[in-house]
Amino acid sequence: MDDRRGSLAAVDATAVTAEATAAIAAAATADELEELRVRYLGRKSELKLALREVRDRETGMALNTARRAIEEALSAREVALASVPDEDPTFDPTLPGEPVPLGSLHLLTQLRRRIEDVFLGMGYTVYDGREVETVWHNFDALNQPEAHPSRDPRDTFYVDANTLLRTHTSPSQIRAMQKQAPPIYLVSLGRTYRRDPLDATHTPVFHQVEGLAVDRGITLADLRGTIELFTSAIFGRREVRMRTSFFPFTEPSVEFDITCYLCDGQGCSVCKHSGWIEMGGAGVVDPNVFEAVGYDPEEWQGFAFGLGIDRIALLRHGLPDLRLFWDNDLRMARQF
Ligand code: FA5
Repeated sequence: MDDRRGSLAAVDATAVTAEATAAIAAAATADELEELRVRYLGRKSELKLALREVRDRETGMALNTARRAIEEALSAREVALASVPDEDPTFDPTLPGEPVPLGSLHLLTQLRRRIEDVFLGMGYTVYDGREVETVWHNFDALNQPEAHPSRDPRDTFYVDANTLLRTHTSPSQIRAMQKQAPPIYLVSLGRTYRRDPLDATHTPVFHQVEGLAVDRGITLADLRGTIELFTSAIFGRREVRMRTSFFPFTEPSVEFDITCYLCDGQGCSVCKHSGWIEMGGAGVVDPNVFEAVGYDPEEWQGFAFGLGIDRIALLRHGLPDLRLFWDNDLRMARQF
């Protein structure tokens, strides 16, 4: 016992501090740290025993400095260990990460943006119309007679007697012309609704792109040139054909066909052996429409067109059925 006391009195405070702080810095767990606290500052530790025995002021100060240094090292290490998350020994941060599957835009959204880009490039603006429309904007202002079959509730989704889900994007023409004076060059894209039975080329909700150009001296030739530019940007080298047709809001009216994607105009079951597939309607704006929005038809001329975006997507990608766009089948979505 006496021997031990003798050695305690002679404890080298600097050496103990160095040894203790090095051990504390290397402690990897809270348990190891607790063991070191007991070893260096516990009741039976060299330092505590020496402090109890100390007789002179200088040794006391040296031992207390060592105690404080060890206490500080212990609390610093405790804080450091607490901020280190429990490590999974099998986790190797140097391995390459697992790929995160990324979503992508729906094919119709991609096509819609592409169409907007093509027309923006021609100097057109993009006009946002309304999906819930008044009967006046959807039919009356577009010169659609009261008795026209498309007004029938069996063909159109009515909200009430004066309001409906638009059956085409053409009411956007009316809204734009009511708002601004000519000249106008705009496209308007969005959803349209009809009570059409579901099949490969008809869905009750579909998308159209409406185009309207109003200026002085516009002719059918400008319409044809614009549609040809548009189709070559979207489809590449495909032939376009204009057929006479009828719409109450255009005179003359035409329909545009392009050569069938499957048989390249030779005739097959997809194009019903005609070699052509219909893309949409168009024509020279009827003077009655200009009068409905307060434009002088003597001064201004214009053309308008309305094309089915879903059908364009079928034609562009050689897809067999419009219903594919609504099935949310990832095998389909991942292809685009
Ligand atoms: C119209 O809707 C006219 N508003 C187009 C127009 C605008 C003519 C401006 C003149 C001037 P139509 O009913 O033909 O026309 O429809 C245009 C295109 O929409 C069709 O050629 C077709 O591509 C697409 N479409 C029509 N009904 C459906 C449907 N149920 N499902 C998918 N696409 C459809």
